[in-house]
Amino acid sequence: MLSITHLQKRFGERIAVDDVSFEVRSGETVGLLGPNGAGKTTTLSMMSGISKPDGGAVSFLGQRVHQDANALKKRVGLVPQDLALYEELSAWANLELFGGLYGLSGAALATRAADALNLVGLANRRHDRVKEFSGGMKRRLNIAGALLHDPELILLDEPTVGVDPQSRNAIFENLEELKRRGKTLVYTTHYMEEAERLCDRIIIIDHGKVVADDTVRGLYRRLPASRSVGLELDTPAPENLLAGLAAMPGISAVQGTAGGVRFDTVDFGAHLALALERIAGQGVRVTSVKSGQTSLEDVFIMLTGHALRDGPLVDTP
Ligand SMILES: Nc1ncnc2c1ncn2[C@@H]1O[C@H](COP(=O)(O)OP(=O)(O)O)[C@@H](O)[C@H]1O
Ligand SMILES: [Mg+2]
Repeated sequence: MLSITHLQKRFGERIAVDDVSFEVRSGETVGLLGPNGAGKTTTLSMMSGISKPDGGAVSFLGQRVHQDANALKKRVGLVPQDLALYEELSAWANLELFGGLYGLSGAALATRAADALNLVGLANRRHDRVKEFSGGMKRRLNIAGALLHDPELILLDEPTVGVDPQSRNAIFENLEELKRRGKTLVYTTHYMEEAERLCDRIIIIDHGKVVADDTVRGLYRRLPASRSVGLELDTPAPENLLAGLAAMPGISAVQGTAGGVRFDTVDFGAHLALALERIAGQGVRVTSVKSGQTSLEDVFIMLTGHALRDGPLVDTP
C-alpha cells in the first residue's frame, strides 16, 4: 500500500531521517518505534505528504506521494502528535471544522462525525466543550478528526503520550477496532509495550536510521536465549535428566540447582512444554516454575546499544 524508499530529510546540518526504506502492506498495523528525536515524526510527515523529502520517495498504491498530495489526503488520515483542537468549541463543532477540511458537509458529515465519535467512545460527550475534556478524551477526539473521510491508511503520531493508563487502554481499543475494520495503521511510539501489543510489525528507528524491521516474534528471536527458566523439583535432578534436557533442541545452559534445574530457552512456549513432558516422563514432579522474562527492550538495547527511554511508562500530563 505504501512504499518508502531511501527517504532522507535534513534540518540544516542535522540529518533527521537518513536513508529510511520500508513497506506498509494493506491491513497491516506497523509500529515506528524509537526514542525521542529518532526521526519518527519527520518520517510520518513525509509519508502523509505534509513535508517534502530531501531524498528518496514515498509511494502510495504505486503513485508518488509528492506529485499528487491531494489524492493522498483523501485516502490517508493523520493524527498529529500535537493536539489540533479548538478548546472553546464542542466536540461536534470541532469535527465539523475537521470535516470541512476534507470537503464534507451536511448529512454526509453528520453521519461520519457520529460514527467517528462512536468509535472513540465520545458519542455522549458530543455537545461538551473540548476544554472540559481530559487529556485522554482530547486524544481520542483528535483521532476521530482524522477518521471523518473514512481513510484507508491512518498515521498516528504518539497518540498515547500524556494520557493516563485508562485512556491509554481506551485508545488501544479504538485502534484495535480500526484494525478489525481492515484499516492500515502506522503508529509511532517510544513505548515498546504499546508496539508489542498493537503492531503486526515493528520498525525500530534510531538516529534517523532503520535498525530493525520485523514481527514481534522475529525481534524476540534475535535474542540469543529469550528466557531463563527455573524449575523446582520434588527430588534433586538426576544426572540423566540433566543430560536429556541439554540434548533437546532450543534448550541450553542446563544446570542442576539446589531445588531442581535451570536452563535457557529460545522459544518459551514450545520448549518449556516439551521439557516438562520429559521431566514427568522420568517420574519427577515439578513443584514450581520461575521464568526470568526478557522483553523487547532487551532487543532494542542489543540493536542500538542504549535504552529506548529513561522515563517511567506513564508520562505525567
Ligand atoms: N522543524 C525542525 N527543525 C529543525 N530540526 C528538527 C525539526 N523537526 C525535527 N527536527 C530534528 O530532527 C530530529 C528528529 O525529530 P523527530 O522526527 O521529531 O523525532 P521523533 O518524532 O522520533 O521524536 C531531531 O533531532 C529533531 O530535533
Ligand atoms: Mg515525534
